[in-house]
Amino acid sequence: MRYRGIFTLTAVILIIIVTSKFFMDSFHAHEKAKEVIGFYQIHNIFISEPKCSLSKPCPPDSFAFSIHSGAATVVGPKICFDGKNIMSHILNNVGPGLNIVVINDTNGVIEKYGYLNMITGDSGQILAYLKDIKPGMIVLVASYDDATTKMTDEIRETFVAMGSTLIGSLNHRDNWVFAGRAGTKIKSFYEKLLVSDEKTNVFDGWPGMVKVGGCFPRTVDDT
Ligand SMILES: *[C@@H]1O[C@H](CO)[C@@H](O)[C@H](O)[C@H]1NC(C)=O
Repeated sequence: MRYRGIFTLTAVILIIIVTSKFFMDSFHAHEKAKEVIGFYQIHNIFISEPKCSLSKPCPPDSFAFSIHSGAATVVGPKICFDGKNIMSHILNNVGPGLNIVVINDTNGVIEKYGYLNMITGDSGQILAYLKDIKPGMIVLVASYDDATTKMTDEIRETFVAMGSTLIGSLNHRDNWVFAGRAGTKIKSFYEKLLVSDEKTNVFDGWPGMVKVGGCFPRTVDDT
């Protein structure tokens, strides 16, 4: 009887050891599976569809974006960020002058967007809006109709401070698209200007549409 008790006890202990080993193994297997899934998630970023009509997907340390200027007073501009149209004619949130989207450069959260009416707006208020943009913020801009009636040198300076090199040459009814970073003065690769010229204008009094797009890096390289 006594031996039998010891035997039962040993069996119970054995069962506990085997079962816990089984649970430990399955726990490790689960962790391994998670690593594999993690790999596929990272892998997926590269094989997924490109965003904002770009020709290829952006690497994970950047945001896809595209900016279309308006065309004359007929077709509104379009600003796409990280796969989402933020401003467009269809969304009915664009206007004459400079259409602008301001984005946090670390998490991609859109802080504000709207249009600075450069035809009938107030130059002082427009300047204040631009000066209020915190250093580091990503700024996407698209012109529509005309962007220079209320333009001042100080307003131009704020765009130079975001990396624009063409804003100084922006004239009446020229189309301009630009992506920069507030307070860095690092020359932006993402900027285009289409001059309004009677000889080349595709519309009566206005040039055609101009666009720019790419992968905007998340953080500033301080080196
Ligand atoms: C962006 O968001 C992060 C996290 O919320 C915040 O710490 C940072 O200050 C923001 N950047 C700017 C330029 O405001």
